Amino acid sequence: MAKARIVYSCQSCGYQSPKWLGKCPDCNQWNSLVEERQERVSHPRGELSLGSKEDPSPIHEIDTEAEGRALTGIGEFDRVLGGGLVAGSVILIGGDPGIGKSTLLLQAFAAISQQGLTCLYVSGEESQRQIKMRAERLDIAAPNLLILSETSLERILDQVKRTKPAVLVIDSIQTIFTSSLPSAPGSIAQVRESSGSIIVLAKKTGLTTFLIGHVTKDGAIAGPRVLEHMVDTVLYFEGDRGHSFRILRAVKNRFGSTNEIGVFEMKEAGLKEVSNPSEIFLMERPLQVPGSAVVCSMEGTRPILVELQALVSRSFLAVPRRTTIGVDHNRVALLVAVLEKKMGAKLFDQDIFVNVAGGVQVDEPAVDLGIIAAVASSHKEKVLDPKTVFFGEVGLAGEIRGISQAEARVKEAGKLGFDRCILPASNISQLTHVKHPQLTGVNSLAECWKLLF
Ligand code: TYD
Ligand code: MG
Repeated sequence: MAKARIVYSCQSCGYQSPKWLGKCPDCNQWNSLVEERQERVSHPRGELSLGSKEDPSPIHEIDTEAEGRALTGIGEFDRVLGGGLVAGSVILIGGDPGIGKSTLLLQAFAAISQQGLTCLYVSGEESQRQIKMRAERLDIAAPNLLILSETSLERILDQVKRTKPAVLVIDSIQTIFTSSLPSAPGSIAQVRESSGSIIVLAKKTGLTTFLIGHVTKDGAIAGPRVLEHMVDTVLYFEGDRGHSFRILRAVKNRFGSTNEIGVFEMKEAGLKEVSNPSEIFLMERPLQVPGSAVVCSMEGTRPILVELQALVSRSFLAVPRRTTIGVDHNRVALLVAVLEKKMGAKLFDQDIFVNVAGGVQVDEPAVDLGIIAAVASSHKEKVLDPKTVFFGEVGLAGEIRGISQAEARVKEAGKLGFDRCILPASNISQLTHVKHPQLTGVNSLAECWKLLF
């Protein structure tokens, strides 16, 4: 009889080693290797492969008709998916506990099942009654929505074959286990094996599948990189618990653009779409206060205006604080250095806090000018014109560099009633036809300063 082999697998990245190691050589995680018994997998490998016995075909002869997209009926969700659901695609949704993953999918499934498609919601975390209670709260009535509370992979696969749903969700993949492996549910081997079997089933039968994944402390999906490679689409559902806004972000999408976001608001009766996010993010903006600047960040194809707030105050620490929420910490440190060197601002003994209002994350260089303007405004105690929007990337020499999609940003600013945009001079030439808002091009920080202070 073949002896079972013992391997040590990294629970973070899936690296395998024949002996135990304190640190994974692949992902550098400490103490992540766990002993696993590797037994012969009960199903022959052939069954696991996607391959049909087809010969290679010329690309123009391959039929794509089957790849038509079904809409979920939730506009923001469809947008993030790249325009609806592709049959046979596998979508991984990650997010912190309690952020609203189960709620989002239950609502989406209710909407899909209204179109007459059978949906199967498999929960390994909640009982049927708990899900029913949630559905009642969300005021969902959907006859084609089947609920199954199950954690065994084999039984789930059986039920899928029996009920033949068009869409399936597994909530969450970390709770599912297969009896063909001795390791515990949630371990990397179990997650890989269960999701592998589900993905093969999805591809073979054209079943659209959502996998919900837990997120670890540092933000990656637990059990994970492995999973991110296997699926077609990876979405993150993020947001601050303190805020009611939730953002669904695509980080990988084989069938659409990434960086596309969908904005939702968590209300008493579930998630509501927010189709005009800029308006909402700017709603509570204080107008005549130093340290507040409005910037425009492109999220996929959509421009979103957000308020950046900065607070500069005398520091009593040996090393002054630089705290940022919603923008990259290093980027702010770099911009503060440019501000000191080029504009002579004395910030070495000042604490600097930068925050993006509304719990949004902006990670585009186009917001650089806005960050600098907000920091300088707070430092100088001078209010910026509340009807002005800033865009532009700032270089280390204090130059303002051109940005992409300037027109879309300018239009959004005009739509929301802003009178003026301060933007890179190099972008002006493409925008000569724009009459409103007024466009002011700047080449350097010094030029911008003349306008502002
Ligand atoms: P849930 O979908 O269970 O989160 P996840 O599956 O990501 O862990 O969301 C739970 C949170 O959402 C919970 O804190 C309560 C809140 N919530 C509402 O505010 N309104 C609602 O209608 C529902 C169903 C949940
Ligand atoms: Mg849940």
